[in-house]
Amino acid sequence: MMQLMNDKNVSFRLLERKDQQGLYNYLNQLSAESRSRFGPHAFDLKTTIEICDNLYGDTIYFIAEDSGNNIIAYMLLRKGMLDADKSRYDDYHIFFDEKSTATYAPSVADEWQNAGIGTAIFQYILLYLKNNGYKNLILWGGVQTLNQRAVHFYSKHCFKQAGSFWYQGKDNLDMFMQL
Ligand SMILES: CC(C)(COP(=O)(O)OP(=O)(O)OC[C@H]1O[C@@H](n2cnc3c(N)ncnc32)[C@H](O)[C@@H]1OP(=O)(O)O)[C@@H](O)C(=O)NCCC(=O)NCCS
Repeated sequence: MMQLMNDKNVSFRLLERKDQQGLYNYLNQLSAESRSRFGPHAFDLKTTIEICDNLYGDTIYFIAEDSGNNIIAYMLLRKGMLDADKSRYDDYHIFFDEKSTATYAPSVADEWQNAGIGTAIFQYILLYLKNNGYKNLILWGGVQTLNQRAVHFYSKHCFKQAGSFWYQGKDNLDMFMQL
């Protein structure tokens, strides 16, 4: 449980099987802008059911809830690197040991963004990574260069820029941190 700057209380936990509908509601309430910036998987009910039925694979799912138990943030942490991400890092001549590298994709509900939730959950994620021997963290699909809040968020948490790439008509940055 954590109290935010706006005096509201939020709690953090791992996603559970019972969250199928809640996760679907969360994803589908994101604004078009947030959805255009956060897309690690499809947002349909079939996908959220599959995720909640298979929680013990390579991805860990962190959520925050408000006092009414609505999901207000959702972050994925995947062991290793996705092929597309790895291929770009290879091109930059930045090579990570995949066993000690994780891939990160954060999101916070629009009305809760910029209130410190992302930073608070990230502190838990950092602890998890350090306690489990991880040495590197990269962004899942990079970050859009025009997504200034996210670029600021990563920079303030000591991510460095690895390189840039063009994807679906937009300029993106690959960013990583060494733990
Ligand atoms: C990016 C995201 C996860 C950050 O979580 P958050 O809870 O909003 O982040 P915090 O409130 O902890 O920190 C936000 C920081 O950005 C800063 N910020 C806000 N708007 C900004 C802007 N337009 N330009 C630059 N910085 C900005 C805030 O001042 C704060 O920094 P500070 O602590 O130095 O003051 C969240 O905003 C989000 O989900 N965005 C939409 C989806 C997304 O972009 N996901 C990332 C895909 S790569």
